[in-house]
Amino acid sequence: VTRRAPLVLGTPGVGGLGRAVGLLSEWQEDAAPMQLHPGDLGWFWRFGAEATAAAVRTWSCGGQCLALGLLDGPDLLRLAMAPGADQDAKLAARLVEDLSRPESGVLSGKKAYLEVAPGSRLHQLLVEKGWTLGEGRTPLRRALLEPVEAPGVRFEVVGPEQAHVRTAVQRASFERSTFTDERWGAMASGLPYGAARCLVGYDEQDNAVAAVTVWAAGPGKPGLIEPMGVHREHRGHGYGKAVTLAAAAALAELGASSAIVSTPSSNRAAVAAYASAGFQKLPETRDLRRND
Ligand SMILES: CC(C)(COP(=O)(O)OP(=O)(O)OC[C@H]1O[C@@H](n2cnc3c(N)ncnc32)[C@H](O)[C@@H]1OP(=O)(O)O)[C@@H](O)C(=O)NCCC(=O)NCCS
Repeated sequence: VTRRAPLVLGTPGVGGLGRAVGLLSEWQEDAAPMQLHPGDLGWFWRFGAEATAAAVRTWSCGGQCLALGLLDGPDLLRLAMAPGADQDAKLAARLVEDLSRPESGVLSGKKAYLEVAPGSRLHQLLVEKGWTLGEGRTPLRRALLEPVEAPGVRFEVVGPEQAHVRTAVQRASFERSTFTDERWGAMASGLPYGAARCLVGYDEQDNAVAAVTVWAAGPGKPGLIEPMGVHREHRGHGYGKAVTLAAAAALAELGASSAIVSTPSSNRAAVAAYASAGFQKLPETRDLRRND
């Protein structure tokens, strides 16, 4: 790449989503801090391919994409960068400019949130510009070199016939969930779902008690858990631990090197459930925040 080439901000369009998913997969590294994962695009895909394409932004130089963002909500940009690009001064300066100008079509409001690696040049520049640290998130990881223990609960892989069970458990797990069967269909028809699975866990009375979706990023790459939940009427019986073990085993089967997840640090139950399934806490991260 000639570093003298201008940096170009782009939106891929539906036809460019395959490349975006490919780049995010390629950029996943066990040794690096967690960043936007192809599974995040996969989970967003429940709103349809067009909405997903409209939410993606790329920054490229001489045809090579160096940074890729997902507008995961009206004021929230989640950013991943190519290996090494996080220290690129020219890229960081351009990102600061694009994030500051509503005309660039990235963050429109004054109030904004950004998820980006804490050690990056961009993070440093934005803090210098007065962006503040938001709420803490706890990333967790479990290596998948050793076989994963049996969950002790029956899990089934969800296909179109069980989609209604998957979505019902989601709505019973998350207060503000808007997951529907139609959205499950959109998600399952998305490109990233080719390397994903939904699982539902059943208790001894055959009640659907827990559900999870896992996303691989190719063999030897970290796989993502997003989302995971236990039905609110069935909590405190070990199903959170069980569904996390089942998720890790599914990712191992898909060839992932590790299972990763990130949850707000304030979600003590989730952090505890992941830890009890053998996940190790990584250093806490904080979104950057621009106030209005
Ligand atoms: C997080 C959640 C999955 C836990 O489910 P659960 O079935 O109650 O969890 P388990 O019974 O398996 O408990 C697992 C561990 O968490 C601990 N735990 C459970 N609820 C807790 C709470 N409210 N506070 C602190 N610890 C808690 C348990 O003591 C257990 O720890 P141990 O193994 O060291 O004894 C459930 O609360 C949930 O679905 N929450 C809403 C959705 C969500 O936040 N999902 C995760 C983020 S993506």
